[in-house]
Amino acid sequence: MLRRVRIYAVTNIKGGVGKTTTAVNLAYLSAASGARTLLWDLDSQGGATYLLRGEPQEHASAKKLVAGKRELPELVAPTGYAGLDLLPADFSYRNFAVRLAERRHPAEQLLRMSRSLRELYGALFLDCPAGISLLSENVLRAADVVIVPLVPSPLSIRMVRELYAFVIAEGWTDLALLPFFSMVDRRRSLHHELMESARAEFPGILRTAVPYRSEIERMSVRREPLSAGSRTGDAARIYTQLWLEILRHESPAIAPAPAEAPAAHPRPAGEFPPPG
Ligand SMILES: Nc1ncnc2c1ncn2[C@@H]1O[C@H](COP(=O)(O)OP(=O)(O)O)[C@@H](O)[C@H]1O
Ligand SMILES: [Mg+2]
Repeated sequence: MLRRVRIYAVTNIKGGVGKTTTAVNLAYLSAASGARTLLWDLDSQGGATYLLRGEPQEHASAKKLVAGKRELPELVAPTGYAGLDLLPADFSYRNFAVRLAERRHPAEQLLRMSRSLRELYGALFLDCPAGISLLSENVLRAADVVIVPLVPSPLSIRMVRELYAFVIAEGWTDLALLPFFSMVDRRRSLHHELMESARAEFPGILRTAVPYRSEIERMSVRREPLSAGSRTGDAARIYTQLWLEILRHESPAIAPAPAEAPAAHPRPAGEFPPPG
């Protein structure tokens, strides 16, 4: 049987919560730990491409990719960091959901596309745009591990509740859903209260919380991962701790099924009908 690349999605319906920052730092750490890693910038705004000093593309064409007329490996660019490649953002990705909707199995296209990476990479990180669309559904179906940065607020907690309910309703017992708190302001008592009540309700929220730090914000000026060049600042340590915690929890975190019982609706991991 063919090996399957491990797919990590960093996603949240909200923007500005630290998705791109997280995807870039974790992908770097994954590569540094020895797994050949690819970061796919799915956001047409190209935040991850910018942080990794990549060139945004204009010809990748979501339409051709989804139609199977172009394969992902053709679009990969090196980042200059050992073991880490980038699939740069493309302006056409703003219409990704429209292109997906044109296919016969619209929710499974991303998983199908990822098959071309299977022999090339050990880890694929998806940096997702904000919003909820057919693209987000594709991402949830394709991912092995879903990493959700949460800024402590009542709306974020509601979103996590809905996400857990969705994943359970779909019967995706093989998915590891790993929310963590991001951009936490230690001085705000509301943040502490919300984090405490959310952890009581969802024990699956990771213990590592990423604080609001200017050192992290400055990544957008320095344009490199926090741990690049063996840097060992506080912020680099926090993301390393987050990565190690993810590695410990990346086997399914939700409603583990009894070993002998098959998953209610196992997600397709094998063969797909040809595109079209
Ligand atoms: N922990 C943090 N502390 C301070 N600034 C942060 C932190 N995480 C992200 N930022 C900054 O907040 C902004 C949004 O982060 P980003 O990762 O682009 O979020 P998203 O991808 O969810 O839109 C960026 O300017 C980024 O540098
Ligand atoms: Mg982003």
